[in-house]
Amino acid sequence: MVAPLRIALAGLGTVGAGVIRLVEANADLIARRAGRPIVVTVVGARDRNKDRGVDLSPYAWEDDMVIMGEREDVDVVVELVGGSDGPALSCARTTIEAGKALVTANKAMIAHHGLELAAKAEAAKVALKFEAAVAGGIPVIKALREGAAANAIERVYGILNGTCNYILSTMEDTGRGFGEVLSEAQAKGYAEADPAFDVEGTDAAHKLSILAAIAFGSKLDFAAVETSGITRLTAADIAQADALGYVIRLIGMADTEAHNGSQRLFQRVQPHLVPFDHPLAHVDGATNAVVAEGNFSGRLLFQGAGAGEGPTASAVVADLIDIARGEVGTPFSVPVAELEAMAPAGAGQRQGRAYIRFMVADRPGALAEITAAMRDAGVSIESLIQKGRAADSGAVMVAMVTHEGPESAVSEAVRLLKGSDSLLEAPLVLQILGD
Ligand code: NAP
Ligand code: HSE
Repeated sequence: MVAPLRIALAGLGTVGAGVIRLVEANADLIARRAGRPIVVTVVGARDRNKDRGVDLSPYAWEDDMVIMGEREDVDVVVELVGGSDGPALSCARTTIEAGKALVTANKAMIAHHGLELAAKAEAAKVALKFEAAVAGGIPVIKALREGAAANAIERVYGILNGTCNYILSTMEDTGRGFGEVLSEAQAKGYAEADPAFDVEGTDAAHKLSILAAIAFGSKLDFAAVETSGITRLTAADIAQADALGYVIRLIGMADTEAHNGSQRLFQRVQPHLVPFDHPLAHVDGATNAVVAEGNFSGRLLFQGAGAGEGPTASAVVADLIDIARGEVGTPFSVPVAELEAMAPAGAGQRQGRAYIRFMVADRPGALAEITAAMRDAGVSIESLIQKGRAADSGAVMVAMVTHEGPESAVSEAVRLLKGSDSLLEAPLVLQILGD
């Protein structure tokens, strides 16, 4: 009988409880595929007495997750607490320093400290795995590190936050309000402990920075991700996009560009208008989708549940099966010392079409002022729609779609309009997703 792989679970919330349920329900199948049983031996969370819907009596309780990796009865610590620093990071560091493998679903911690932890894990020759940190149940990290490893990846982009996608697609389908739908996403276990991380785009930015490092072999650079979330979007934007033939989705996008003999890395998370005929337009609910374009594979599309107990637990346990099989590997696609430091690429020289929404005072000359700014900045307007005055505020919505052109021209037009008395708030600029 081969010795079981003994797991300590730090964190027993949505994902932690899901891991227990999965390991118990599929124990035989997992043991056959892993070559040995995977058993939970130790668990810990904040509140020992909370009912989590799973029987914890077979497991030892450990109050201090920081020392879980030092216990004799533990081979691997699974960190499912969350937070970029604090107890999660202390737990990760001490586990690796104790020579034990670490599995985590914590994208915030990997985005901020992934390079340090990976270097430590490589030095200690232990596994550090984080499949569940990106796109929930979709095995996209494994796909890029292994299945697509022969390719130079030219671009990687997609829908990386289940909560935002649930909110946007539900608002689109039902016309319900933002706050109500966010509460529903929280109740379903999709949202972060602080849902501002979801709706402000930070969670998607964490994931994009991890994906980019793996796809391009670049040093993880979360600080360089240009990030905006979905909080400024209104039901009127969604309806307007629909009338124009688009849905709105929060998209993370990364690619590289050559500059003076080296590569620069572009990373951005922003709501985009997605044409009805694009595959990402049909990604609804908490589903995620990742597109990776390889120079030999062509376009690869990965799609599946991006959040929630079962799918995330599935990704965590896949990492455990790899570890049980004796796979250590490098946490990123190449050893940390070989990851390339790429300077950030700005958006200015990028070409594209944009949707620009203005809220303007309903008075003569307001529209002329906007179109003059577009003319002066060299932005070519494809269509412009003015909606009727709102009964309460008297504000008028003006929605514009531009022809293809440099993003810098749109930024310049917005700059020219800054401080204008005609505008009741800063314009909202969303890119339109191309092919
Ligand atoms: P959660 O439901 O909020 O659970 C967090 C767990 O950590 C709880 O059991 C909590 O204990 C415990 N905890 C928090 N602070 C602690 C502390 N100071 N000391 C000890 N235990 C502490 O979170 P989750 O949704 O399972 O997410 C866990 C991780 O997975 C996060 O990094 C998250 O970003 C990531 N993730 C989540 C999903 C998802 O769909 N939910 C998907 C992918 C990745 P109590 O229960 O006693 O309060
Ligand atoms: N809060 C995250 C989301 C969980 O909604 O996508 C999955 O990482």
